[in-house]
Amino acid sequence: MRLFLDTANIDEIRAAARMGILAGVTTNPTLMAKESGVSYRDRVVEICEVVRGPVSAECTSRDLAGLLEEAREIAKWHPDVVVKIPIDETGLEATSVLSKEGISINMTLIFSANQALLAATAGATYVSPFIGRIDDTGQDGMDVVRESVEIFDRYHLPAQVLAASIRHPRHIIEAARAGAPIATVPFSVLQAMIKHPLTDAGIERFVADAQKYQKESARERAARP
Ligand code: E4P
Repeated sequence: MRLFLDTANIDEIRAAARMGILAGVTTNPTLMAKESGVSYRDRVVEICEVVRGPVSAECTSRDLAGLLEEAREIAKWHPDVVVKIPIDETGLEATSVLSKEGISINMTLIFSANQALLAATAGATYVSPFIGRIDDTGQDGMDVVRESVEIFDRYHLPAQVLAASIRHPRHIIEAARAGAPIATVPFSVLQAMIKHPLTDAGIERFVADAQKYQKESARERAARP
């Protein structure tokens, strides 16, 4: 499974890239609104220069002409840019047109396997079920991931399930077990994946013990004639 970071924050992206675990990035207008003093375009290009992998940037136009124009413009920002389009009738139509032009689409705001099937059939490269937001409604978001993976596999649809709206590390394990080839995770969840209290306690003990024997061997060396 490949891990993407779900953020528009360049420091978080640089940190994840340094750890050697970053395969891509997803952004959206909400994440971008947390950043100040930089345009969406400039930030996406900056991200593309750090990450060697797909970087999703989202369209907000609501009519077909506007959506096509915006998507074509975003696609020109960098060769690694993937254009994110929310699913609805216009979004599917735009995806059908743009995918035939060779533009890579991440169809977003997916809340059912039916929507995932439609997105894949229209030509989306990535299909993003929003696990956490589905869980919030009282349903199991992972069911949508499982069903989408099963349908794509069975009918050899080339679209990839990109597990999104990840809220905690368990979501990533479950998405991986469900066969999602990609999960996009907030930086805080990535940090939670790394941490384990027994690892912290283990490091503390090893450091303390190392200091003990280093002191002892220094004493022994000093006592030698
Ligand atoms: C990913 O592409 C989405 O932008 C993101 O995962 C949404 O997550 P949220 O439900 O935490 O806003």
